[in-house]
Amino acid sequence: MVRFANKLAPVGGLLALFGSPTVAQDTGNVVVDGTTFALNGDSVSYRFHVDNSTGDLLSDHFGGTVTGNIPTEIVANVHGWVGKPGRVRREFPDQGRGDFRTPAIRIRQTEGYTVSDLQYQSHSVIQGKPRLPGLPATFGTAEDVSTLVVHLYDNYSSVAADLSYSIFPKYDAIVRSVNVTNKGTGNITIEALASMSVDFPREDLDMITLSGDWAREAHRQRRKVQYGIQGVGSSAGYSSHIHNPFLALVDLATTESSGEAWGFSLVYTGSFSVDVEKSSQSFTRALLGMNPNQLSWSLGPGESLTSPECVSVYSNNGIGGMSRLFHRLYRNHLIKSKFATSDRPPLLNSWEGLGYDYNASTIVDLAKESAGLGIKLFVLDDGWFGNKYPRDSDTAGLGDWTPNPAKFPSGLTAPVNQITSLRAAKTSTNLRFGIWVEPEMVNPNSSLYRKHPDWALHAGSYPRTERRNQLVLNVALPEVQNFIINFMTKLINGANITYIKWDNNRGIDETPSPSIDHKYMLGMYHVFETLTTRFPNVLWEGCASGGGRFDAGVLQYFPQIWTSDDTDAMERITIQLGTSLVYPPSAMGAHLSAVPNQQTGRTLPVSFRGHVAMMGGSFGLELDPANIPEEDKAALPGLIELAEKVSPLILKGDMYRLSLPEDSNWPAVLFISEDGSQAVLFYFQISPRINNAIPRIRMEGLDAAAMYNVEGKGVYSGATLMNMGLQFPFDTDVGSVVVFLDKQ
Ligand SMILES: *[C@@H]1O[C@H](CO)[C@@H](O)[C@H](O)[C@H]1NC(C)=O
Ligand SMILES: *[C@@H]1O[C@H](CO)[C@@H](O)[C@H](O)[C@H]1NC(C)=O
Ligand SMILES: *[C@@H]1O[C@H](CO)[C@@H](O)[C@H](O)[C@H]1NC(C)=O
Ligand SMILES: *[C@@H]1O[C@H](CO)[C@@H](O)[C@H](O)[C@H]1NC(C)=O
Ligand SMILES: *[C@@H]1O[C@H](CO)[C@@H](O)[C@H](O)[C@H]1NC(C)=O
Ligand SMILES: *[C@@H]1O[C@H](CO)[C@@H](O)[C@H](O)[C@H]1NC(C)=O
Ligand SMILES: *[C@@H]1O[C@H](CO)[C@@H](O)[C@H](O)[C@H]1NC(C)=O
Repeated sequence: MVRFANKLAPVGGLLALFGSPTVAQDTGNVVVDGTTFALNGDSVSYRFHVDNSTGDLLSDHFGGTVTGNIPTEIVANVHGWVGKPGRVRREFPDQGRGDFRTPAIRIRQTEGYTVSDLQYQSHSVIQGKPRLPGLPATFGTAEDVSTLVVHLYDNYSSVAADLSYSIFPKYDAIVRSVNVTNKGTGNITIEALASMSVDFPREDLDMITLSGDWAREAHRQRRKVQYGIQGVGSSAGYSSHIHNPFLALVDLATTESSGEAWGFSLVYTGSFSVDVEKSSQSFTRALLGMNPNQLSWSLGPGESLTSPECVSVYSNNGIGGMSRLFHRLYRNHLIKSKFATSDRPPLLNSWEGLGYDYNASTIVDLAKESAGLGIKLFVLDDGWFGNKYPRDSDTAGLGDWTPNPAKFPSGLTAPVNQITSLRAAKTSTNLRFGIWVEPEMVNPNSSLYRKHPDWALHAGSYPRTERRNQLVLNVALPEVQNFIINFMTKLINGANITYIKWDNNRGIDETPSPSIDHKYMLGMYHVFETLTTRFPNVLWEGCASGGGRFDAGVLQYFPQIWTSDDTDAMERITIQLGTSLVYPPSAMGAHLSAVPNQQTGRTLPVSFRGHVAMMGGSFGLELDPANIPEEDKAALPGLIELAEKVSPLILKGDMYRLSLPEDSNWPAVLFISEDGSQAVLFYFQISPRINNAIPRIRMEGLDAAAMYNVEGKGVYSGATLMNMGLQFPFDTDVGSVVVFLDKQ
């Protein structure tokens, strides 16, 4: 247990009035001494204290373990325009009073001021972690997590702010959220509220973000933090393909496998903002939270606004170490589904194979073909619904969630029963049936829209911009939430459905007010929570034109998310490895599709396509087996079998990105089981390299002293495999191998 003795002198003046406790409190991982605070994990320390002259919270340390007494920060004398608040490291920077950096909170007071003066008032320590009302959040028992809540108060405006810090010591993770309450008598507006704000005493850091667009998600970007503000965000209403709600700050020298890395992940699905600012004093500030452009949240007397939470982890084992902390934490303490780490049947999705062009009998035929290959879950994608406005293209039907009688004359029940009585080849299990929905959307060409035009998001008489011929329902409205909950309940109860793919194919354009963004999210989370609690045996998959909502908010409810609409295996290596910076591979949907690829036109070997797809937790096929070359079809049963064999390692194992497609012609990933007894190597060649020495790929994370049987290669020590590596010659253009390593 860490102890330290930099006791604050007995406080006088202001602080005495706040009656701060002086008794040291100690829950093992939260240590409070007077008004200094320490959160200690296995390899992380996070420390801050109250500035006794101002009541401000000042940061002391966020990084590797520090113990005992720590030196007091020496602040340069104030010369020039920047006041003392702009020269110190602040835990929760408010606006005004000489800190010219970006604030974590901006409040428009009743009188119109945007100055705040939030001072320490008291704190409390909680074993475990309280839920965040209405928001997704990490969870754990008193054994897993402890929470420190610091209560701040602005005596001039009567605004209270509670900072909540939870530490998951085994994961070196500190989770923060903020709760602001209007204790005054007038209305105030919260214009900005960052969930996490950290001031690093570092002038040289790189920042890493995940950026892209539709079908090009999660491309890793690394750049040096420069003076001024730089950052990413979304104003699309959802977390979006464009930037992910994630940030890593790393030392300039940090690599995949060594060096310091701080990772930040917002547990939120709405518009967000990530700001990194290097100040005149050369400190680096990072802020993550809801996008201030879409907040303007009004609080009447007595009302509170709770921010989403931000998870931060610290690793001294490089970017890979940071990712593994996130993966483990999210698998165990974020994803609520019982399928978080198990039971992901190989599936076949009808979309790329059939599109909208099917009926009950052709669907049953496709299911039979699928079962014959060893597929265990058949997923009927878009196109099954709509009556007056049948869903035969993307121009009509969204909102009318009853089976299209032209395609399903006797409804879904009978064909679904036919499908679920099929036996998957070489198994004793029956095929499961899953279905696609896009509940938050409506086509103007629908009965729903004719009946409830006001349910669609709009701003007065401004034109309602259609994208993909559709509008977004205002999920902030309770009647819309109930509509979705009711039709989904009826659908799932009406047929033997055990998988739902929940899609969302456009961003939000016109809204009646900026705060609708967050109100929509609260409504959407209510719907997710209600349905996933009501149907815990359904395997839920999130999707938003691919990875448009691949975020920790969605993962709370849905254990897997369709990673990208780009199923080209070459592109997918970059997208999946990028996504894995923060999200566990267990959460990724990845499918083997037909060639030439629908997005890129590229033709890759079926084994290469299969190997890339089986690095995702939910492996599947996206094709019509009747329409692919015989030799590809012949390879499918073997690939499905291999996918099932690697699945436990993908779902529960530790992931090591051995080499990256952006750096190497031979990207590689190693997954090691939790107990270290087995590992599987994925190794790829992405373009031909004629007349070139055959490179070596070196393992990581193995037990140096142990012996491993490498499939097809022989028995070698962990040390040899990690320090010398293995060679895999490819005599083709592109190539791939999947190799098991078994500890002897
Ligand atoms: C405030 O804290 C500093 C540093 O811990 C200490 O030197 C000083 O005496 C304290 N001042 C008051 C008024 O308590
Ligand atoms: C808070 O404000 C009230 C009146 O505005 C004042 O009487 C009181 O002393 C203030 N308290 C502190 C701690 O500044
Ligand atoms: C937010 O603060 C208010 C007032 O202190 C309190 O009633 C409420 O429970 C808090 N909510 C959370 C999530 O901490
Ligand atoms: C505060 O806002 C509410 C709701 O918009 C409004 O009814 C009320 O009049 C406002 N109060 C003041 C003092 O402006
Ligand atoms: C389904 O579609 C197939 C192919 O278009 C057609 O031959 C068949 O008659 C249709 N079946 C029904 C029940 O409509
Ligand atoms: C409505 O659907 C019809 C086909 O059913 C299509 O021709 C028309 O373009 C659609 N209208 C809109 C506004 O999408
Ligand atoms: C539902 O389908 C599963 C196979 O996916 C099957 O085992 C089960 O018996 C079916 N349940 C009903 C009620 O038909």
